[in-house]
Amino acid sequence: MSNRNIAWLPLTSLVAALSFVALPALAAAPPAAPDTSFLPEGEAKPLIEAFCIACHNPNYIVQSGGYTKEHWQQLLTSMVPLEGTPQLETISEYLATNFPPTTDKNPTLISGDVQISFENWQMPTLGQMPRDPVEAPDGMIWWVGQWAAGNLVGRLNPETGEMKEFPLPARTLPHSVTPDSHGNIWVSGNGNGTIVKLDPVTEEMTVYPMPDPAARDPHTMVFDSEGILWFSVQFGNMIGALDPATGDIKLVTAPVENSRPYAMKFDSKGDVWVNCRNTPCIYRVDHDTMEITAFTLPHADSWSRRLALTSDDMVWYGDTERGLIGRLNPETGEITEWPSPSGPNSEPYFMEVIDDIVWYNESGKRPDALVRFDPATETFQSWAIPSAQGFFGGIARHGRATSDGDLLIHQGSSNNIIRVHLNDND
Ligand code: HEC
Repeated sequence: MSNRNIAWLPLTSLVAALSFVALPALAAAPPAAPDTSFLPEGEAKPLIEAFCIACHNPNYIVQSGGYTKEHWQQLLTSMVPLEGTPQLETISEYLATNFPPTTDKNPTLISGDVQISFENWQMPTLGQMPRDPVEAPDGMIWWVGQWAAGNLVGRLNPETGEMKEFPLPARTLPHSVTPDSHGNIWVSGNGNGTIVKLDPVTEEMTVYPMPDPAARDPHTMVFDSEGILWFSVQFGNMIGALDPATGDIKLVTAPVENSRPYAMKFDSKGDVWVNCRNTPCIYRVDHDTMEITAFTLPHADSWSRRLALTSDDMVWYGDTERGLIGRLNPETGEITEWPSPSGPNSEPYFMEVIDDIVWYNESGKRPDALVRFDPATETFQSWAIPSAQGFFGGIARHGRATSDGDLLIHQGSSNNIIRVHLNDND
């Protein structure tokens, strides 16, 4: 049997063939055979082709920039239940030999006076892609497990470390989670075009399907001060607003074709700012009319994922394509840019403003770097984002402030939720 055939065994045969380990419930096999020609021949190659294609393209191995054997083991056991198996030894030995740590992706870390510390938790279900941690009014931290191995919303008690995972309806594949002021937890059903409300007390879930099937992938969500849930619809190219009192959903199509509306945040007037993930624009959505105004970024190839606003209503965004951060002045349309410390391939991703300091990460780097930018002094400081297990992976995709001014982020590869304590200088 060729290696390629092994990769295409149905999952049930795989489990039988490799019965030393119980695979988590995974998505159906991907539609096209992923290319594994970059993997040198060896005993581990068919194992990798068996274990490492169910959740993501195996070329993540190359993109990671390489790890030591110990770090490969920590990474692999964060995704697949290989702990204590001989196969873990075989695969990690092979990966460390063929994909050892390189310096190619190292970030340029900037030292400085600010002291911070990281508090990491590892989530129960492996390979779930935990993301978008957020603090609820009662201090609990909620996250979602986006990928098929997860398809869940989880609650972490940061005081005790106790966690509970709530399975979501099939194919919800949640992108984000946000609490309302009553303590309900809202989840965007990126996989099946729904929004789900969880009552954590009764554990009852209410599903709100999109009224238009074209709105197929609800993405980021934010509540406004009146309790309306605003959300982006990335591939559907729309902005939506759901009224929890009536269940009514309004949808408006974005003015730039295929712009892929992504993250969203409010300004002090209550208008909504939204990134275009695919085109060089940022939108302002009028709170009352849902009319959308597009601001054009200065470079034709620019695109951004997330944004945040300082108290002067300046809009800060990371230009992922060009490795810059930018500030848009909504009054004048003027844009000012600063190169991210790690250069054009730094790939700024999440962005949050806390006490008028801009925080983001350099997701194209390993370690993924957490960056602090002070707009008043125009200075940077940065740190490698650690995992609970010890290796330095990625990728933080969303960061949100806690009520006491800390930052919540996450790391898909290590299956970690991370609280960054920003007040260590106090
Ligand atoms: C059950 C799902 C699942 C399986 C199976 C799986 N992974 Fe992953 N893997 C993940 C998730 C989730 C991430 C994080 C993706 C992200 O943040 O974009 C990840 C990320 C990675 C990364 C990137 C690490 C970095 O530097 O950020 C590598 C390398 C990787 N996986 C290798 C493997 C290998 C090798 C196997 C097979 C032994 C494997 N994966 C199997 C879920 C899985």
